[in-house]
Amino acid sequence: MAERIDGKAAAAAVVDKVKTASAELAAIGTTPGLAVVIVGEDPASQVYVASKSRTAKECGFHSVQHTLAASTSEADLVALVEALNADPAIHGILVQLPLPDHIDAGRIIQTIAPDKDVDGFHLINVGRLGAGQVDEAFVPCTPAGSMILIEKARGRDLSGLDAVVVGRSNIVGKPMANLLLAANATVTIAHSRTADLAGVCRRADILVAAVGRPRMIKGDWIKPGATVIDVGINRVPAPDKGEGATRLVGDVDYGEAEARAGAITPVPGGVGPMTIAMLMANTVVSASRAAGREPPRF
Ligand code: GUN
Repeated sequence: MAERIDGKAAAAAVVDKVKTASAELAAIGTTPGLAVVIVGEDPASQVYVASKSRTAKECGFHSVQHTLAASTSEADLVALVEALNADPAIHGILVQLPLPDHIDAGRIIQTIAPDKDVDGFHLINVGRLGAGQVDEAFVPCTPAGSMILIEKARGRDLSGLDAVVVGRSNIVGKPMANLLLAANATVTIAHSRTADLAGVCRRADILVAAVGRPRMIKGDWIKPGATVIDVGINRVPAPDKGEGATRLVGDVDYGEAEARAGAITPVPGGVGPMTIAMLMANTVVSASRAAGREPPRF
């Protein structure tokens, strides 16, 4: 039976380290500042943003939230981001995605100053990570958090191990693959057009699932003893819990996978809590750099 990797505990440890670093910075006159911008009323986004703002306050940050109407123009959003870029009290800027259709999300992301881009979506940070400059880049929070969970199971050096990332998004799949490569794993990115996806997954010592399809990855796709990181968060009907009830499941069939994997992240309670913790980590790193201090390492 697989070891269950406890993302809640790992996230709490990251947040503790952030709190310590934040207090040290405050003592020398730099309170880390995080600005979160949300446009429109997408309910899932509102839940995420509230949670980010709450954790930021727990970390002792100066936390500001800008909630803008869905009708906000692209020019007004650009102007807000530029004002935050210029604000010395702000060290991290996050514009919650998705944005309304009339706004070019790519343009907004490229407007964020790269040294305040705590999401790691600016092309400068994408390029740093792609060039293997992991310590200089802001790394997107979900893959950064997944990497910490992988380290718990396998250590920091993944030499000789085969890693398969299922999913090729810019937010998870591609940066995840770059992090695994930087840690010396032999990396395959698989996706919806991959031939014999099950066979590719069966080669993986480390399998990262980031496709957004409930329980797509079956138990017999998993190499015995593999480390399985499930990034998926999918809401599915749960008639056993009553009429109209739902539950969250990952991209991996946990019940089946548990019997073969060496270690596996649950959903919920695996990668999810790490994402917000890494946003706090990136923000305190940014504030440390702004204060001329050696940033903490996570
Ligand atoms: N929407 C869903 N996940 C994310 C994220 O990590 N960052 C931003 N900015 N928006 C998101």
